[in-house]
Amino acid sequence: MDIFETIKNRHSVGKVKADALPRDVIVQLLEAGSQAPNHFKVRPWRFVVLTGNGRNKLGDVMADSLRARQPDLPPEGLDKTRALPLRAPVIIAVGVDKPTEAKIPDLENYAAASAACQNILLAAHALSLGAIWRTGDWARDAKVKEFLGFESDQHIAGFLYIGYPESVGEYPLRPSFEDRTVWISS
Ligand SMILES: Cc1cc2nc3c(=O)[nH]c(=O)nc-3n(C[C@H](O)[C@H](O)[C@H](O)COP(=O)(O)O)c2cc1C
Repeated sequence: MDIFETIKNRHSVGKVKADALPRDVIVQLLEAGSQAPNHFKVRPWRFVVLTGNGRNKLGDVMADSLRARQPDLPPEGLDKTRALPLRAPVIIAVGVDKPTEAKIPDLENYAAASAACQNILLAAHALSLGAIWRTGDWARDAKVKEFLGFESDQHIAGFLYIGYPESVGEYPLRPSFEDRTVWISS
């Protein structure tokens, strides 16, 4: 698939089939993520791949965290939260390393991990998979971070939910770059 076609036609796909993805396909996605540019060659992304029961474990952690914050929440509310990670057969959580040296800006590590996320989304699209980048409060949740093996002050750039699409989505018509661009040539 042509790179421009891939970039233009990629769109978020929230509804995917429950069918598992072969491991070699997931590996292809991780390899794409690892090709992202990164300053000082620190490769500041950390991938945690959740499949099968791993997603249930994440759901349990999310429900526990919610219960701790909202003890009066009815069980249905907790069940809804517990089921969130089951929306796709594969979730790649992308953590961001904290800078190890003073010269490395935190923001640049975040930027590189985000570039890794986009690489994975583009690769998923090129492989005819459906994918969506999610964050929300769960990307900042202390219990979720602990479960994934991240430190409490480490960022999570995103949770990439990936699977076979339920249907071929409509290709998005996006606004032009024009109102977001200035040209300085003299
Ligand atoms: C950093 C980031 C976080 C996002 N978090 C969510 C999210 O929590 N839930 C969601 O439905 N979509 C989320 N998205 C996806 C955006 O909603 C989506 O990219 C946007 O609507 C544009 O649609 P497109 O991806 O089809 O071009 C996120 C995207 C980015 C870049």
